[in-house]
Amino acid sequence: MSEDILFTPFTCRSLTMPNRVVMAPMTRGKAPGGVPTEDVAQYYVRRALGGVGLIVTEGTGVERPAALNSPDYPNFYGEAALAGWDRVVKAVHSAGGLIAPQLWHVGLVRTRHPTWTPAGEYDNPSGYSRPGNQVGEGVSEEDVADIIAAWGRAAASARDLGFDAVEIHGAHGYLIDQFFWSELNKRNDRWGGPTIADRARFGAEIVRSVRKNAGPDMPVILRVSQWKLHDYAARNATTPDEMTAWLSPLVEAGADILHCSQRRIWEPEFEGSDLNFAGWAKKLTGVPTISVGSVGLSGEFTAAYQGEGAKSAPLTEVVRRMGRGDFDLVAVGRALLQDPYWLQKIREGRTAEIRDFEAASLATLS
Ligand SMILES: Cc1cc2nc3c(=O)[nH]c(=O)nc-3n(C[C@H](O)[C@H](O)[C@H](O)COP(=O)(O)O)c2cc1C
Repeated sequence: MSEDILFTPFTCRSLTMPNRVVMAPMTRGKAPGGVPTEDVAQYYVRRALGGVGLIVTEGTGVERPAALNSPDYPNFYGEAALAGWDRVVKAVHSAGGLIAPQLWHVGLVRTRHPTWTPAGEYDNPSGYSRPGNQVGEGVSEEDVADIIAAWGRAAASARDLGFDAVEIHGAHGYLIDQFFWSELNKRNDRWGGPTIADRARFGAEIVRSVRKNAGPDMPVILRVSQWKLHDYAARNATTPDEMTAWLSPLVEAGADILHCSQRRIWEPEFEGSDLNFAGWAKKLTGVPTISVGSVGLSGEFTAAYQGEGAKSAPLTEVVRRMGRGDFDLVAVGRALLQDPYWLQKIREGRTAEIRDFEAASLATLS
């Protein structure tokens, strides 16, 4: 096995990454009042110095009152937050790195910080907090237009601040995924309907708005997943045909790269083939894909929230699958959270120096 394939360049629009490794977006909750601090900037700088090909930031909220569910998550609008991001971008560029913000809207989620948005305020397709539990109304046509515009403004800010790419968070059961998922989207208007293609329209319009505002140079990455934070078995597409119906409109709307989130990279997506989600997404849409999930580690990431660590593990599956052309890039979360110099150690064959992931690392910005 050779990790050399990870250290080949990748180009999309004006972005040229020196290697195939992306730092996965990871919410850290260290942005008091929604403003990224100098500590946040230096945390990303260390990953740039460690040679990561592209840093995708933690999720950062678009301009809607209930876009985030904690006051310690960063905003992507307003003078103070954008000045904070400006410092982050400049610091990462000075360290030779490349960086994309992950634009986020949580929608209606079960975990909401009690001191945060006023009770009952949320954006959601049909007012379901989970399957079968309707707690209110879905968003109006006017709200939908405002949400789409908010994503567009965030993309324009990313361009103005000099980010190298932009990522839309369309995964894990948050707002865009709430529209994709039949269990939560019960609308009969043009933002819902019986097929996954109907329910993809909301996400597609957001992609279109981001594409338009990002300008011609910046790649637009869209993160999608089948699984939801509260239902790992949930699926938006149960067959390759459904997957095409889901993802093609998103690519046609302007997604350059699909970031296909799995908890374990080695898990096949459909029976009869060992292709994973990123493998199928690339095969069906033709665009480059990012794969992710337990890369370099023995166990999956949600266990970290229950205090579980994970052992360092070889990159055999990533190298095998990337070498076969299944996907173009790989995102790495916890291994890079634990050790900013993880990739450098891989490149230099210093694997004996790589430490296991410890859940305690979630508490600090080291
Ligand atoms: C602390 C933490 C925070 C995360 N926050 C986000 C986030 O803001 N947006 C997102 O799309 N995924 C988020 N994720 C998921 C990661 O991007 C990644 O998909 C996951 O950790 C699997 O990669 P890994 O096994 O290499 O850690 C988070 C994961 C962790 C561990």
